[in-house]
Amino acid sequence: MRLKVTVLPGDGIGPEVMKVAVRVVQTLAEIGGFEFQFAEYPIGGVAIRETGFPLPKTTLDACLDSDAVLLGAVGSPHFDDLPRDRRPEAGLLQLRIALGGYANLRPAIAYNALTECSPLRPTIVAGANVLFVRELLGGLYFGEPRGSEQNPRSAWNTMRYSEAEIERVARIAFDLARSRRAKVTSVDKANVLETSQLWRSVVSQIGKSYPDVTLEHIYVDAFAMHLVTAPKRFDVVLTENLFGDILSDEAAALTGSLGMLPSASIGGAVNLYEPVHGSAPDLAGRNLANPLGAIASAAMMLRHTFALHREADEIEGAIRSVLAQGYRTADIHRSPKEQQVSTTEMGTLVEEALTSAVIRRQAYHAV
Ligand code: IPM
Ligand code: MN
Repeated sequence: MRLKVTVLPGDGIGPEVMKVAVRVVQTLAEIGGFEFQFAEYPIGGVAIRETGFPLPKTTLDACLDSDAVLLGAVGSPHFDDLPRDRRPEAGLLQLRIALGGYANLRPAIAYNALTECSPLRPTIVAGANVLFVRELLGGLYFGEPRGSEQNPRSAWNTMRYSEAEIERVARIAFDLARSRRAKVTSVDKANVLETSQLWRSVVSQIGKSYPDVTLEHIYVDAFAMHLVTAPKRFDVVLTENLFGDILSDEAAALTGSLGMLPSASIGGAVNLYEPVHGSAPDLAGRNLANPLGAIASAAMMLRHTFALHREADEIEGAIRSVLAQGYRTADIHRSPKEQQVSTTEMGTLVEEALTSAVIRRQAYHAV
């Protein structure tokens, strides 16, 4: 079986973390006996420089023709003055639409080894494990009409959701909750917004066919507070596009660093995997970035696209073990007892931990 992955390194620290993530998957493939075929294409600012467009047709065609897409990051201050649809971010939004993954999974796990990294008290974060399911293709990001005018200046966006859009993402959240702690928290602003009233009604209706899953509804403002005061209350958190964008960054505070968070956009023709962190231009090219979010995104790819569940678990186990041994990139380095390592060193450490885990497993099965 040849597993075809399109790699889009993108801007800033994207290329550095992607190189590491691809190597981890390659290492696993070598010892596990499967074959991945990786092909790189430009997206974002890099693509604008090369072709004038943030998502060139050759890049899009390659993505549509692959089993999965692994993306680093897009965004560069260099293009801040361009009109919205020509900025690097537009390339990512166009890609999301074209691939069709409407459910964006963003797990935020407070690893034991990192509880000291969180600005929150260890008693609050220890053991927190929240899976955000963010609706990715609707709401304010894409709603029409949108636009702006001059004299006097004004601008408008539209938050719009159809029943079908809410239903399909809700089903994913409930299905995922079944393999976790069987709880869904749906976040909305139903005390003010019609879209949220529809959201709440549709989610409740879908919830009826999941009697084994507990459903609760919370207003987004209250949720933002509960997330940092009592995160252990939450298991799967289902929410619309913009709320999910904002809250998943807030959730990074539980994990210690935005660099830790992976994501998967599923449900469409081709799934898209990307770390939640952005291009971090200030860190770019310095071998300082945390590659764990990118590596964990590759693990999600193995699980959700290739059904390599055991291998995905092994990558996540390797991340846990390297952290437990005290290795830290700059963003999660807090105490002199921990050893600070570079992006590439962190990658090598994960590969080593992974290799020994896989060899142990193979030896166990051989007897
Ligand atoms: C994210 C990012 C993107 C988003 C930007 C880069 C368009 O912030 O993936 O969370 O808003 O979805
Ligand atoms: Mn974001």
